[in-house]
Amino acid sequence: MAHSPAEQRAMARALELAMRGPRSRNPRVGAVVLSPAGEVLAEGWHRGAGTPHAEVDALSSLPDGAARGATVVVTLEPCNHTGRTGPCVEALIRAGVARVVYALDDPGEVSGGGAARLRAAGIDVEGGILADRALALVGAWVTAARLGRPHVTVKWAQSLDGRAAAADGSSRWITGPEARSDVHARRAEADAIVVGTGTVLADDPALTAREGEKLRAEQPVPVIVGARETPADAAVRSHPHPPLFYDTHDLAFVLDDLWDRGLHRVFVEGGPTLASAFLAAGLADRVLAYVAPVLLGGPRLAVGDIGVPSIDRARRLRVIERVPLGADLLFVAEPEHPAGDPPPRDIGDRAPVSAGPPRRT
Ligand SMILES: NC(=O)c1ccc[n+]([C@@H]2O[C@H](COP(=O)([O-])OP(=O)(O)OC[C@H]3O[C@@H](n4cnc5c(N)ncnc54)[C@H](OP(=O)(O)O)[C@@H]3O)[C@@H](O)[C@H]2O)c1
Repeated sequence: MAHSPAEQRAMARALELAMRGPRSRNPRVGAVVLSPAGEVLAEGWHRGAGTPHAEVDALSSLPDGAARGATVVVTLEPCNHTGRTGPCVEALIRAGVARVVYALDDPGEVSGGGAARLRAAGIDVEGGILADRALALVGAWVTAARLGRPHVTVKWAQSLDGRAAAADGSSRWITGPEARSDVHARRAEADAIVVGTGTVLADDPALTAREGEKLRAEQPVPVIVGARETPADAAVRSHPHPPLFYDTHDLAFVLDDLWDRGLHRVFVEGGPTLASAFLAAGLADRVLAYVAPVLLGGPRLAVGDIGVPSIDRARRLRVIERVPLGADLLFVAEPEHPAGDPPPRDIGDRAPVSAGPPRRT
């Protein structure tokens, strides 16, 4: 049965509810329970690892038996596994709901398969409603689950002529305050912020997410990749999270280790050597290029060799957003051909992970 206008409205509401959930390693999910007549009976959302999933949260606000014959509208396919909370599909079956409408398939190997389980129990199920909007909300989580490695955003600021720094290496500030504050907001959405030793030695960045001078509540774990020592008095050593140090150029290894630590959204912030290495390795799922109307000339390109020998091998990107930020322009782009799909891994409920002590590999 095709979804109704009431279900469509309920999905839009469920997406709003999802936004109330914390940014965490778990996806943000919202749910609405509708009566057979299409009235809203209950609402719920996921409040982070270890707490009830959105549909169970919504059902739990109803008296026993009140959801019998109801429709549950939820932004992610109900999970089918026992993580730190029980499987949602069993709760839906026990509640006697007649229909489940969801936006996105759950890509997890273990947590997925909820729709099939519900159908097997005689529940009417429809997926894909407002899937684009749900994907915009949890896209990084979905990519990470599909690839079995963190979702990687590579960010750089460049002059109009494609330079990341002036000839002497100074790069503060190419872009204006609006662009910089946009970067800080996006840093706060990441689990880890990654730079090469070159940036640490040249710029001594704090790698914190700030609002004005104030630290934001959510801070990415700072990660420094490369062989050279970070000075004892480097600003990054005062970060709220102890930095992670990787004495290697093996980016796949770094991503694997970050994954194992539960750091699933990685923000790569420089500089040109590291950005190029991520691009060359096909490990950039999203590019953020902040373009400032300034000319720098000289040799310090924003991106160097990424293994493109000729124009027919150019890396075509799909621009998904162009954001004016004061005098600057942000391009948000993704590869036309995203990274391959190795077998999915389950990343259902995980305990929050602390970065642990600085580490050498
Ligand atoms: N415009 C921007 O957005 C932006 C952002 C950041 C920095 N910058 C500017 O960029 C300049 C620094 O550039 P950079 O390229 O030296 O910085 P970087 O990319 O942060 O650091 C480069 C270093 O990272 C290490 N590294 C780690 N993994 C690597 C890999 N897979 N391949 C190669 N090297 C790897 C190497 O150091 P080891 O030799 O120690 O192993 C390498 O020399 C500064 O002028 C800074 O101001 C600009």
